[in-house]
Amino acid sequence: MHAWLCENPVGVEALAWKELPTPQPGPGQVLVEIKAASLNFPDLLIVQNKYQMKPPLPFVPGSEYAGVVRAVGPDVTHLQAGQAVACLSGTGGFGTHTLAPAALCLPLPAGFDLVDAAAFIMTYATSYHALIDRGALQPGETVLVLGAAGGVGTAAIQIAKQAGARVIAAASSADKCQLCLDAGADATLNYSEHTPDGSLREAIKQLTDGKGPDVVYDPVGGAFAEPVFRSIAWRGRYLVIGFAAGPIPSLPLNLALLKGASLVGVFWGDFAKREPQANAAMMQTLAQWYLQGQIKPVLDQTLPMHELQRAYALMGSRQVKGKLVMVNPG
Ligand SMILES: NC(=O)c1ccc[n+]([C@@H]2O[C@H](COP(=O)([O-])OP(=O)(O)OC[C@H]3O[C@@H](n4cnc5c(N)ncnc54)[C@H](OP(=O)(O)O)[C@@H]3O)[C@@H](O)[C@H]2O)c1
Repeated sequence: MHAWLCENPVGVEALAWKELPTPQPGPGQVLVEIKAASLNFPDLLIVQNKYQMKPPLPFVPGSEYAGVVRAVGPDVTHLQAGQAVACLSGTGGFGTHTLAPAALCLPLPAGFDLVDAAAFIMTYATSYHALIDRGALQPGETVLVLGAAGGVGTAAIQIAKQAGARVIAAASSADKCQLCLDAGADATLNYSEHTPDGSLREAIKQLTDGKGPDVVYDPVGGAFAEPVFRSIAWRGRYLVIGFAAGPIPSLPLNLALLKGASLVGVFWGDFAKREPQANAAMMQTLAQWYLQGQIKPVLDQTLPMHELQRAYALMGSRQVKGKLVMVNPG
């Protein structure tokens, strides 16, 4: 097998494509031949030692992947060789094979494309848990999605539409805004045309008939968070998803009081661990929606696995629209 090895987490340049012995699965493990692996934002952070999870060195990055089970560990009964699975295990995906925890492998129903499967779990699970569970989004409400052309953002557009909401997608370029319209958004806001303490609030007002969005989905953070929170509707819910812009914003708490609004934390990974049955039910709903053609990952492009460093550079410079997926030949 081959894999991108991180021996020193000082950045993407330090990753090396190495030949490694193909391992045999132990108890609770399966050997997966990886067909596709997608990039999520944490993949960028983990190789720079900037992510909350710090795997022991050396490790193979690649949080999320899909492929075919080639061998199962002695006590694994729910998976068998030849079965197609998707897995979000945090590491291991950027290679030709990996040992995956069997408990984290989702058997894929017939008709589930492996590239889509590799780009599915993190983004759709996060966005469903955020909008439907934590945000209690109702039909007819208006959602403002920030970073809407990114991985979780495009999934949030589709899920909010499924829930019957009106979606305003905010992104940093005309191209990205167009992609959001193609993904189902009702209106867009190009925030690169606005300043945080200037015209942004007026633009949000105009797009919401002066009322403000009922729900804000924010995977970006940074300087726009406060003016957007100031713009939220009465009884609004501001969903804290992530901080792709870098700085973690602070908010004066009186803003929540003035709007009867809620600041709602979203941590899908812990939700999945703490409430596994609710998470499994949610994943089933999402798989059904996919098979019925109601949701589908928005792909920027697929790249051969050996071009991982280029893929990382695209993500790091905000050039990705939707999801980037690395694929192995064959
Ligand atoms: N809470 C949870 O459970 C959970 C789960 C999954 C992901 N997340 C978090 O959600 C965030 C987005 O993840 P993702 O996989 O969707 O990433 P992504 O595909 O790279 O999208 C991030 C978006 O953020 C915007 N952005 C603004 N400033 C940026 C900067 N300096 N660098 C990069 N992007 C910037 C970009 O859109 P514009 O150019 O349009 O601004 C980009 O499309 C990350 O912080 C991730 O850790 C949280």
